[in-house]
Amino acid sequence: MSICYVNGRYLPLAHASVNVQDRGYQFADGIYEVIAVKNGQLWDEEWHLDRLERSLAEVQIAMPCTRPALKHIIRQVIQQNCNVEGGLYLQVSRGVASRDFAFPKPAPKPSLVVYIMPRRLGQSTKGVRVITIPDMRWKRCDIKSIALLAPVLGKQQAKEAGAFEAWQYVDGIITEGTSSNAWIVKNNTIITHPASPAILNGITRMRLLALAKENGIAIEERPFTVAEAHDADEAFASASTMVVVPIIKIDDAVIGNGNVGALTMRLRGLYEEAFKKLITD
Ligand code: PDD
Repeated sequence: MSICYVNGRYLPLAHASVNVQDRGYQFADGIYEVIAVKNGQLWDEEWHLDRLERSLAEVQIAMPCTRPALKHIIRQVIQQNCNVEGGLYLQVSRGVASRDFAFPKPAPKPSLVVYIMPRRLGQSTKGVRVITIPDMRWKRCDIKSIALLAPVLGKQQAKEAGAFEAWQYVDGIITEGTSSNAWIVKNNTIITHPASPAILNGITRMRLLALAKENGIAIEERPFTVAEAHDADEAFASASTMVVVPIIKIDDAVIGNGNVGALTMRLRGLYEEAFKKLITD
């Protein structure tokens, strides 16, 4: 049975609920994080909590508790779920108040929900297809907002097209996937959109960039076009629970020779090695 923390209580997930006047429910007025968890260990927890604090500050929501208290709750949730492997989901909303767009005064206590989505990390290694779609999101994609309607519609479009993910573009430039960062490889250089308000600066993205740097792999953080993506030698997506997913087709363009890319798998290997080291240390 999955156990969920919700506003001070640990409850079976099926019985965990929030007030209908929660601003997360009514306005998507909240922030979330997903952290990979395996064998009771969290991957890059501090970076995720740094990003959580940054996102909350950008929308002027207070932390629901101190960082040590939050880490304690996270550990309780992991323990109560018997160290299940998956994505730890953490959501903070502005709290409960009667429905008015401006911030309620006095500020309500932010709502906090933490539970685990059980899943195997980094399952997909065979090579997948992505489609490209117009990016319909707002202009602050660097904030990990719970307002996810555009990504929901984009992912559904991908699913209906038989694809794994949809890569979004603005003026012909690929920003990122609906729930992952987008990467291509050209002439042994890995290329990904620079961190900016146009993308979520993925924690997996940052870790992969650090690993690439440490291992002498050439990197270009720069915008790339849909045409460049179609013509790439390799391509992949990254995110916390999917890790590194090789891409072998973008729209109808076969990437490289249609096989999973060597540099992609090298990066994935480096990531897994670092991860293993962390969980056995
Ligand atoms: N998605 N870009 C977007 C738009 C995302 O939603 C995500 C993560 C990423 C990758 O970020 P990270 O490496 O920190 O997981 C990039 C999460 C996992 C989700 O919404 O389920």
